[in-house]
Amino acid sequence: QIKGAIFDLDGVITDTARFHTQAWRQIADQVGISWDDALQESLKGIGRMAALELILKHGHLEQNFTQGEKERLATEKNQHYLALVDTLTPADILPGMQALLDDLAQKGYRIALASASKNAPRVLQNLGLTAYFPNVVDPATLTHGKPDPEIFVKAAASIHLPPAACMGFEDAAAGVAGIKAADEVAIGIGDKCELRAADVVFTQTQDVTLPHIQQAMNRRDF
Ligand code: G6P
Ligand code: MG
Repeated sequence: QIKGAIFDLDGVITDTARFHTQAWRQIADQVGISWDDALQESLKGIGRMAALELILKHGHLEQNFTQGEKERLATEKNQHYLALVDTLTPADILPGMQALLDDLAQKGYRIALASASKNAPRVLQNLGLTAYFPNVVDPATLTHGKPDPEIFVKAAASIHLPPAACMGFEDAAAGVAGIKAADEVAIGIGDKCELRAADVVFTQTQDVTLPHIQQAMNRRDF
């Protein structure tokens, strides 16, 4: 019996994945690193410094920067990102997601946020969704980022449920891997091939409803 819903934020509740991309691309251009789709996809769900390391590695420049320089690049990326985040309004909630949150709350599901982003509270605030998420895992408290299950295990604990009583919503392959490793039900939102490790994948957020999730779970005999 599923009683908890654990949400990723970027790319699930709102399309901030494009803002992360825009902000990182500015940094990549600045240091002369080329960009491609695979690199972009691999940054989803990955914490700020780890994402920077992946970008530098992609350009074979990981040895060329001191720790202090890397921290300055990450800070600069974050400044670009926050300027974009502060344009968000409740109109930027992805289609169907507020209805899903309302339905979950109304049916008594416990809700938690498992985002690697240190900016998650600000994004929720701008979207007008803070009240839906009294339980937000602070990524600063984590030892390991996604695909490690830690954030999803902590999210389940924050709503006082065993992981097996929770479903997690994710747009990133690393996130889906974390949910499965935590022994939770994984609901992927995005590309069916990219997210093939999920128990159920929806291509579009407007299709993510409790009845659709229940239908898909019955088909798969959970
Ligand atoms: C999310 C995004 C990642 C981002 C990470 C850290 O997981 O999917 O692309 O790198 O958060 O975000 P932050 O806002 O703390 O830099
Ligand atoms: Mg995401």
